[in-house]
Amino acid sequence: MTTKTARPEHPTYVHGYSDTEARRLGDQADTLVELLHADTAYPAGSRVLEAGCGVGAQTVHLLAASPGVLLTAADLSAESLAQARARVAEQAPAADVVWHHGDLHRLPFPDGAFDHVFLCFVLEHLPDPAAGLAALRRVLRPGGTITVIEGDHGSAFFHPETPAARRTVDHLVRLQADGGGDGLLGRRLHPLLTAAGFTGVTVRPRTVYADGGRPALAEGFTLRTFVAMVEAVRAEALAAGLTTPEDFDQGIADLRRTAGPEGTFHYTFFKAVAVNP
Ligand SMILES: C[S@@+](CC[C@H](N)C(=O)[O-])C[C@H]1O[C@@H](n2cnc3c(N)ncnc32)[C@H](O)[C@@H]1O
Repeated sequence: MTTKTARPEHPTYVHGYSDTEARRLGDQADTLVELLHADTAYPAGSRVLEAGCGVGAQTVHLLAASPGVLLTAADLSAESLAQARARVAEQAPAADVVWHHGDLHRLPFPDGAFDHVFLCFVLEHLPDPAAGLAALRRVLRPGGTITVIEGDHGSAFFHPETPAARRTVDHLVRLQADGGGDGLLGRRLHPLLTAAGFTGVTVRPRTVYADGGRPALAEGFTLRTFVAMVEAVRAEALAAGLTTPEDFDQGIADLRRTAGPEGTFHYTFFKAVAVNP
């Protein structure tokens, strides 16, 4: 069973800050690197902000694709930042990174301080993503770009599909909503960015599809990224009275079967790029 530890920095953050979650974020980023990072490369010398860098799982891939950038990586969690710093020291020792511990809504940087802003799986955890985007737009120079990657748990469909499996996914969406987030945020990226005043908003869906012919993806994505994420809310789902131990465990067992030789799993991420006019 996965364990989850909330931290005072973000007490309602649905995924928590456990070692298991740190590993899951690493597995997720490494498995999806081609899908999510292949078309993001910033010129050397660019001032880049990664908001909500977490344990640095995306940071190392961002730095690998954009050598020579001047990166500022920010997160609410001091402990995650320390892990991010260690990960970058090991995997990108030459990188020029400023680490900032703080809330992305109150960044202590001047207007227009960055040429590019990048954030991945962060907006979905904010109670007011529009306010988050406004705060990030302030520190982006006119003509600078923002890149936002989000999931959408409503895009998950799989075989075999069972009611118990579907219910476990729905519990995660519900708990995230109860904590002020939105596990279905991917589909909202275009309207959110447009309403925040960005222009040239382009959203491209990125599909992960795993089946018996792609066992590495079934392991890296279906099991170690998606099922691990759902399984981690077991205690909260039980505490909230959403489910019983038997029903939840059945749902997880059923989800695991979708990664087997006769199973299939589909999930869509959304990657948006937009300009600060
Ligand atoms: C799901 S993790 C994603 C981490 C990383 N971007 C990745 O893809 O591996 C979300 C991160 O956003 C951070 N976060 C949430 N709200 C934040 C805020 N208001 N300001 C800064 N960071 C925040 C959390 O602490 C957490 O590290």
